Amino acid sequence: MPIRAIILGAAAGGGLPQWNCGCPNCTLARAGTIPSLTQSSVAVSLDGSSWALLNASPDLRQQFARAPQLAPTDLRTSPLRSVLVTNGDIDHVAGLLTLREKQPFDLFATAEIQAALSGNPMMAAVDAALVPRRTVSLEMPFELLPGLTARLFPVPGKVPLYLEGAEVRTDLEGEQTVGVELSAGGTRILYIPGCARVTPKLAERIEGAEMVFFDGTLWQDDEMIRAGLGQKTGQRMGHISMSGPDGSIAQLGGLGIGTRVFVHMNNTNPVLRPDSAERAEAEGAGWIIAQDGMELTA
Ligand code: MLT
Ligand code: MN
Ligand code: ZN
Repeated sequence: MPIRAIILGAAAGGGLPQWNCGCPNCTLARAGTIPSLTQSSVAVSLDGSSWALLNASPDLRQQFARAPQLAPTDLRTSPLRSVLVTNGDIDHVAGLLTLREKQPFDLFATAEIQAALSGNPMMAAVDAALVPRRTVSLEMPFELLPGLTARLFPVPGKVPLYLEGAEVRTDLEGEQTVGVELSAGGTRILYIPGCARVTPKLAERIEGAEMVFFDGTLWQDDEMIRAGLGQKTGQRMGHISMSGPDGSIAQLGGLGIGTRVFVHMNNTNPVLRPDSAERAEAEGAGWIIAQDGMELTA
């Protein structure tokens, strides 16, 4: 059976448009000239009747409302079986609070991410009796859905913004930021929405995958500074850029990937404008720019 994936939200934290942003992309999205995007989440399924979420976005309610595949099939019967979070960032976990309505599902994450979640007293509203916290070790295979095997692996990144101390390391490789490898019947798909750089080990892992969803936060590292929107580079935020010799387009070229899809795109990224030169360049290199509601199969 093929693996199905629905892009519930293609944007990075803030979405497109971001509530307080008047940048060209946000202005175009507000006017309806380019598509608006909700925040980072993908739903996956093998059989189309039970689904798992990869990250729980703050826009989860809206994302469920417009995905017929995720609609309840009976009074209180949801096709949602499990949720897996790949880091503790707010754009990936705040939607868990929306899932507090007495619905059983499994919540999978590394021990470090589970600790970030349980360190927030508000998370107690998501009843652990109904939503067991399943702690998974790196590289340990587990069943995300019946027949769908998942494996978490470390990718270079940092701790969530709200856990940053005085000194921030953005190249940590451990349990704080992970990628997910999903496999079923010999098909492998990878989901890596946050990644500071492509290491040889990561390239090896990605090689030959049928489908890869990858960190598309920024086109270039100083994009937010140039736009006059902030002081942070992509590297400071733990995100690789699409362009340049160390960028994802170059680094993931030649790895024999079947379908490659950019997700988690920041509202400043020029690829979000369908008529931009950067969009043409990314698509010319074989990348799909994810849009909300898009369904892909591998
Ligand atoms: C990120 O992806 O860098 C974070 O989501 C940023 C944030 O927490 O706002
Ligand atoms: Mn994010
Ligand atoms: Zn903006």
